[in-house]
Amino acid sequence: MTMPKAEVPAADNAAFAVPRHVAIIMDGNGRWAAARGLPRTEGHRRGVEALRKTVRVAGEMGIHVLTIFSFSSENWSRPPAEVRDLMGLLKLFIRHDLAELHQNNVRVRVIGEREGLSPDIRRLLEEAEELTRNNDGLILVVAFNYGGRQEIARAARRLAADVIAGKLPADAITADALGNHLDAADLPDPDLIIRTSGEQRLSNFLLWQAAYSELVFVSAFWPDFDRATLEDAVAEYHRRERRFGGLVARTGS
Ligand code: FPP
Repeated sequence: MTMPKAEVPAADNAAFAVPRHVAIIMDGNGRWAAARGLPRTEGHRRGVEALRKTVRVAGEMGIHVLTIFSFSSENWSRPPAEVRDLMGLLKLFIRHDLAELHQNNVRVRVIGEREGLSPDIRRLLEEAEELTRNNDGLILVVAFNYGGRQEIARAARRLAADVIAGKLPADAITADALGNHLDAADLPDPDLIIRTSGEQRLSNFLLWQAAYSELVFVSAFWPDFDRATLEDAVAEYHRRERRFGGLVARTGS
């Protein structure tokens, strides 16, 4: 079975086309706060403000898909009070911003494990997806309770269930088939993944989809991320030659 692709325009071959899909690891809220003698919560709160601005700017720049790493499968290991704060901020973000996102024609998608989330959070995530389902502007993918390895395991489980049910021969499990069972299989892979705060790793973010993404690491802490930082990262993306394993440079397909 081939997953129908979402209506994201085909990559523009112009050398300076904006990347279709940008994914961001929003890192450094805690260090931003510590540098100012503020509690970590304040860093996260300012992180949400940076997120609001980034969604607006991404839409204005013509980016089609913006994926944000909001809460990782591993973030549960933080102190309970910080986990509560992050959950509270997500609720606040959806309650406070959903109407405006909808008004601005943003479509919200959510990837990650829903099991294990509290019923009120699950309801809010579903409400955000449902309300914005028919919007055709920027697609905002919220990675929440998300881990790349866990997502690949989920896809493998879905395929295994089809094999057990006799719907799929085992030798039909190809890379394409697995990719088609990921959480948002209809969306294109990220062209550009940005991580803030100077750390240079993926930390279990979009492991499958990142196969040919350009990675750009910026030193700014997430709360300081703004239009200029995003534009600089996109300019760096344009300086890269994307060959997708071949010999000839080309833009994303
Ligand atoms: C990393 O900073 C950031 C996170 C763990 C989560 C990102 C969350 C937000 C931007 C705010 C919440 C937004 C939503 C929609 C839930 P860090 O705490 O790891 O910073 P540090 O590495 O400096 O300690």
